[in-house]
Formats: sequence, structure tokens, C-alpha cells
Amino acid sequence: MSTFQTHDARILEVKELTSREKLFTLRFVDPEINRNFKYKPGQFVIVDIRGFGEFPISLCSTPTREGYFQLCIRRVGRMTKYVHELKEGDIVGIRGPYGNGFPMETMEGSNLVLVAGGLGMAPLRSVLWYALDSGKYQHIYLFYGTKSYEDILFRDEITHLLKHGEAMNCTVKLAYEVESPSCIYLEKGFAPKVCKGVVTDLFRGEEFDVTNTYALICGPPVMYKFVIRELLDRKLSPGRIYMTLERRMRCGVGKCGHCIVGTSTSIKYVCKDGPVFTYWDALSTRGLI
Ligand SMILES: Cc1cc2nc3c(=O)[nH]c(=O)nc-3n(C[C@H](O)[C@H](O)[C@H](O)COP(=O)(O)OP(=O)(O)OC[C@H]3O[C@@H](n4cnc5c(N)ncnc54)[C@H](O)[C@@H]3O)c2cc1C
Ligand code: FES
Repeated sequence: MSTFQTHDARILEVKELTSREKLFTLRFVDPEINRNFKYKPGQFVIVDIRGFGEFPISLCSTPTREGYFQLCIRRVGRMTKYVHELKEGDIVGIRGPYGNGFPMETMEGSNLVLVAGGLGMAPLRSVLWYALDSGKYQHIYLFYGTKSYEDILFRDEITHLLKHGEAMNCTVKLAYEVESPSCIYLEKGFAPKVCKGVVTDLFRGEEFDVTNTYALICGPPVMYKFVIRELLDRKLSPGRIYMTLERRMRCGVGKCGHCIVGTSTSIKYVCKDGPVFTYWDALSTRGLI
């Protein structure tokens, strides 16, 4: 796909995940564009609502399942509110994919520790299913923290993995901060994989060989400090810690300068050099996290 061209994509399905987030399944109208649309977990697209505006959204589906792609969109303001009102059959403009994505080939044969907070689950869901579908990784851990049970995204998939994940070399653990009377997980006997607490509580009792493990983090800014401290305490090297970051963006391709961070000694374009960075990058670039 040409990098700056917008193509029409049809909404195939809209699924309400929570009161704020919807999952949109899309396919390009032109079958040729659809066939040529290749992306990596961690990349994003720009959604173009013609005459109204554009905004970036992570691809939350896996490229191992071809013919469609998915976006999990939280309603926060003007454009996301507009998109939440769209229905199956409606058309939106899409350009991309953009960004570097996670280095999935480099990590083959290793353990993956995915640490998601809230909406950070969206890009990590792409990694999760890519890793499970490809079977090229050793053990996959998903530690997922939300404010409440009601905020858990992709609940059907999470339930499936809580039940059957170990047979697929996948350990899923959940933490939510506030008591939720409607939580089905505890009564189904999923404790201690499901607990009241914060995402770092989920590391307790888990050991992984740090020489053969990568950690991938995505969540609200406040979460990074605590998760990184936990990983460094376990002696995971900063080069094995990947984070996907969000900044206000416009062009998505390194032209407008909107997403620049750092100083003269190290400047990064979050759209082009990221949105995936290692903790080494964060240590050398001021303002990255
Ligand atoms: C690389 C990247 C990937 C993203 N992936 C997703 C995703 O998978 N799902 C999703 O729901 N959202 C994602 N976002 C955020 C999404 O782009 C914004 O929520 C969207 O642009 C808001 O548009 P709006 O017109 O509805 O809100 P606005 O009216 O523009 O803003 C509403 C509120 O949201 C805040 N806001 C807007 N954009 C951002 C941003 N980039 N970072 C932090 N705060 C912001 C504003 O400060 C304001 O408080 C991503 C952003 C980036 C940069
Ligand atoms: S968004 Fe334009 S340079 Fe990054």
C-alpha cells in the first residue's frame, strides 16, 4: 500500500466490548488492496473520516489471520464518538500501516511476557494471537490489569485462555483494582490467576529465564515505571524490554514533526521510529516515558 494514500474500508462487524470500547472488523473495498495489506503486531493505521479529521489506532488483530483487520476504539472525543455511531456496511478511509511494530522475528524461540494495562491490551492482543498462531515462541505470559472487571477487553478470549491457555503454553493472569460484583472469574475458580490488585501483583510466583525472555508493555503512562522496576529487579536487560507509546500524531510518517520527543542528542519521531521502543531508547531519549 502506498504510504500516504487513503483507501476505503468497509466495516464488516461492530462489537461492543465495554461501555467505552468497540471492536471494528474491517476489510478494504478493493480486493487487491486487501490482499496487499501486510502489517506487524504493534503497527497502527490512521483512520480518515472524510471532511472531519484523522486519528491513529493500533491494529489489534493478528496478521496471521488474513482478509480482514480489527481496531479497538475507545470513545474519548469528537472523532471517536463519530466512529462509535457507525454501523456494519459503513465505509471509512484507512491509511498505513505505520510505525515499526514489535520485532517478532528477533523474539522467536523466547518467552514473551506481555504486560497490558487497560486499552494497552489492544496492540498486545495482536502480539498474543500472532505468537499463539505461529507457535514460534516458548511460553507466553499475559499479565493484564484494568480498573474493574467491566473494563476487561476481549473477555471471551481471555476466558478461553484462562481455561485452556496452559495447553497452548500460555499463562494468562488478570488483576483489577476495584471490587466488581458481576465478576464471573472468581466464582469459576480462576483465583489466583485472577485477583484484586494491580498488574505488578501478577508477577508473583512466576519465574522466567531472563536470558531467554522479552517483555512487551503497553498501558497508561503511570504503569511503565512500576512494571519496568519489576522487570529490572528480575535482571531483565533493558534491551529486552519493549514498550509501545502514544503521542499526539498527525501525519504518521515523520513529516509534520508533531510527535517528536527528545533533545538535540537524541530525537525520536514516535510515529516513524516507534511507537515501539526499548527501555534503552527511553534511557537515552528525554521525555520518551
Ligand atoms: C500510535 C497510536 C495508537 C493508538 N491506538 C489506539 C487504539 O488502539 N485504540 C484507541 O481507542 N485509541 C488509540 N489511540 C488514541 C487515539 O488516537 C485517540 O484517542 C483519538 O485520536 C482521539 O480522537 P478524538 O477526536 O475522539 O478525541 P479528541 O477530541 O481529539 O480528544 C479527546 C481526549 O483524548 C485525549 N487524546 C487524544 N488523542 C490522544 C493521544 N494520542 N494520546 C493521549 N491522549 C489523547 C485528548 O487530550 C482529550 O483529552 C492511539 C494513539 C496513537 C498515537
Ligand atoms: S506524526 Fe507527523 S512526524 Fe510523527
